[in-house]
Amino acid sequence: MPTREENLRFWGRDYDWSDRGESWTPGELWKRTILERTLWPHLTPGMDVLEIGPGAGRWTSEILTRAPRRLVLVDLAQKCLDMCAERFGAEHPDIEYLLGDGMSLAGVADGCIDLVWSFDVFVHVEKPQVRGYMHEFARVLRPGAVAILHYASIDRAQCEDPREGWRADFTSTDLRELLDDAKLELIDDLYHPLISHTNSSIALFRRPR
Ligand SMILES: C[S@@+](CC[C@H](N)C(=O)[O-])C[C@H]1O[C@@H](n2cnc3c(N)ncnc32)[C@H](O)[C@@H]1O
Repeated sequence: MPTREENLRFWGRDYDWSDRGESWTPGELWKRTILERTLWPHLTPGMDVLEIGPGAGRWTSEILTRAPRRLVLVDLAQKCLDMCAERFGAEHPDIEYLLGDGMSLAGVADGCIDLVWSFDVFVHVEKPQVRGYMHEFARVLRPGAVAILHYASIDRAQCEDPREGWRADFTSTDLRELLDDAKLELIDDLYHPLISHTNSSIALFRRPR
């Protein structure tokens, strides 16, 4: 089970980030398809964006091409925030970096975010922490604003080991339960081997108006 402490230890200390996480990108087509199916339809210039778990900035660099007004990066590991600051800081001195506790968005004001993005993060986060984040999304998103979350859907696994890739013990049913609980509205729940993996999905949901 990937606990908060294990995530912190692995990503903040043990993982070799020298390729900036690009070894997880199977190819340009994969990346473009994800962006076109999920992020681009919801991200327009001038938005206030929050990314959770940026790592070394594999998706942050894409978000920045759309000129957000404000970009807040939240990560459990200081090392990841430092890598992003080093990579983007000179050109984008206004990026905000928040060291998180792995389940809340303390430091982000109520109703100030237009879009939440998180990829390859919640696949490693267990249900109690995801529950915490869901309530935080409901708090920080503006009414009608959207969140895009890549998450572990081990109930849909088409591989031998549903937990392959250090997946959390989390299902698409859990996702629906937590969204209901936080009064968030599911827009789409994409499961396709090309865009996610055979044991993960991408959920798009919003805070109701
Ligand atoms: C597999 S890396 C993915 C990095 C980046 N999103 C990418 O796709 O290249 C996981 C990232 O999520 C962060 N992380 C793990 N658990 C977290 C949590 N509960 N809250 C916030 N960040 C977390 C890690 O520190 C790391 O930056």
